[in-house]
Amino acid sequence: MVVDRIFSGIQPTGTPHLGNYLGAIQNWVNLQEECSSVLYSIMDMHSLTMPKEPAVLRQNILDTTAAILACGIDPKKCFLFRQSLMKRASQNSEGTVGLLTYPVLQAADILLYKSTHVPVGEDQVLHLELAQDIAQHFNKKYGEFFPVPKAILSTTKKIKSLRDPAVKMSKSDPQKLATVSIADSPDEIVLKFRKAVTDFTSEVTYDPASRPGVSNLVSIHAAVTGLSIKEVLHQATGLDTAHYKMVVAESVIQKFAPIRNEIKKLQEDKSYLIKVLEDGAEKAKELAAPIYQEIRRLVGF
Ligand code: ADP
Ligand code: NA
Repeated sequence: MVVDRIFSGIQPTGTPHLGNYLGAIQNWVNLQEECSSVLYSIMDMHSLTMPKEPAVLRQNILDTTAAILACGIDPKKCFLFRQSLMKRASQNSEGTVGLLTYPVLQAADILLYKSTHVPVGEDQVLHLELAQDIAQHFNKKYGEFFPVPKAILSTTKKIKSLRDPAVKMSKSDPQKLATVSIADSPDEIVLKFRKAVTDFTSEVTYDPASRPGVSNLVSIHAAVTGLSIKEVLHQATGLDTAHYKMVVAESVIQKFAPIRNEIKKLQEDKSYLIKVLEDGAEKAKELAAPIYQEIRRLVGF
């Protein structure tokens, strides 16, 4: 796989949950090691499609930034920036970003850096198709210019809601105790796993179709320990699901304890967070400027 440039975005919804970490952020951390040109954007303009108090949005941007830095995103290994800072920096008289709709905005973000690869979850593959279509149309009309961006699919299984294993864990789940934040305290984590929905069989087995609740626990256990399903099942031999829930809770507590501490530390250093995002925007702008100039030249502006 020739990966020249990776682009990915995260919505600034505050501190991520276990699903966001295992399904996306962990992969981001690995990709910044493997590829020399990586852009991660805090998509604050996308989140304007969901009405929010400006103060809440500002806080969420900083919390999201603190969280992904704490997870291991390293501004020396990638450009981490706020989407709107970048846009403001590259704005010109005819550019009114407000006119761009969500999918177009996303396509523009990907193409502006001539990104070749975009890490996505299965649920986002369709979003990428517009960017691919635009790249192909542009190339047909103006000559080969944009790489057609490819998806890097996350291989992690969807983490399910702890209260309803038929649906994925999500920040918008209104059910209490369904979603585990990566900054939850040990007590909160224990409580949420204790209340996790399983079934009437006490043995621990892995069978997502007929035993989604306990299988979700096994998936989480495997994902946070880095062990295989087989290995964690072996560790669970002889445990009933009630005891197993506490084993899984403990593995989650262990995994996120250092990250949680780091999040707290970073949240207290607002000026550092702001500086990281501003520096990243500056570098993203430098990268995009000649590409943008060339686009303008090609279309005859
Ligand atoms: P949410 O459902 O909480 O709103 P998003 O849709 O904002 O999450 O997704 C952000 C990233 O996290 C995406 O890459 C998505 O694939 C991943 N993700 C979200 N929920 C889960 C989950 N339950 N399990 C695995 N990955 C997830
Ligand atoms: Na993503």
